Amino acid sequence: MSSQSVTVRVPAKVNVQLAVGGRRPDGFHGLASVFFAVGLYDRVTVAPAERLSVGVTGTDAAHVPADGSNLAAKAVRLLAAHHGIDSSVRLDIAKDIPVAGGMAGGSADAAAALVACDALWSTRTSPEALGRIAAELGSDVPFALLGGVALGEGRGELLTPVPVGGTFHWVFAVADGGLSTPAVYGECDRLRGLTTGAAEHQVPAPVADPALLAALRDGDAAALGAALSNDLQPAALSLRPALAATLRAGSEAGAIGSLVSGSGPTCAFLAKDPQSAQTVADALTASGTCREVRSAEGPVGGAAVV
Ligand code: C5P
Repeated sequence: MSSQSVTVRVPAKVNVQLAVGGRRPDGFHGLASVFFAVGLYDRVTVAPAERLSVGVTGTDAAHVPADGSNLAAKAVRLLAAHHGIDSSVRLDIAKDIPVAGGMAGGSADAAAALVACDALWSTRTSPEALGRIAAELGSDVPFALLGGVALGEGRGELLTPVPVGGTFHWVFAVADGGLSTPAVYGECDRLRGLTTGAAEHQVPAPVADPALLAALRDGDAAALGAALSNDLQPAALSLRPALAATLRAGSEAGAIGSLVSGSGPTCAFLAKDPQSAQTVADALTASGTCREVRSAEGPVGGAAVV
């Protein structure tokens, strides 16, 4: 790799609350989404090259597009266009975040590509402009720049940092195969009895849960566990009924809270301490209800040069 290369590490997210409103005229759903960055990371490296190219490594690499359709490649092109410069870089993505799992891995890679190219090109993009470019790429991309915990409103891109008074211990059960985010939102509308033409105001406006925000502020794991909620969970379970057994296995092993992460199918479990997290992880592995089990702490910071 060239001595000029830049590597950025970027975390996965879990939504500790995902309140979903009606479908807007632009097709997106209004959200009150409390994003929480956890210590599972992808690494994105950029280096000068003759043309824009993409390489992907990691267990799930075969399921990630290694061409210009990758969201991280789109990020490179958008940032280059913003500055009126050439987008020719080699983009290497080392994937450790589960693919299509509801943990925003693709969005994370796009955010990392923005930060990496901004450093490689010395373009010093303002945080505001970087945030706007990120929002154009996807609803979850701005949060991957920020990290920590944040309330996402609008379609998830309008962020307000949320204060957090401690470290929380998570276990993730990674399912076999992904779930399509648009399909899960569509199933959510269907279960609510809404047709595709339904107006936004047919669903109450989504709001952040004060009990959840207080639990985060106080670093109170038991209270956070009790307050976890995801309006997409019934839809994910409807499309993937086997997830019910995964959620049950983690709860029976002593998790103080459990939910489907984002649009799924990854299931997230909150443990009261690292020992309990290990017990939950061991039980999930033994249950045979998931492909892989990962443990991580959070919150952690957003995309950063290493
Ligand atoms: O923004 P992003 O590209 O990640 O969204 C993927 C898809 O998820 C959208 O095309 C839409 O179908 C659905 N979505 C939604 N409402 C949101 C975010 C995503 O309906 N707030």
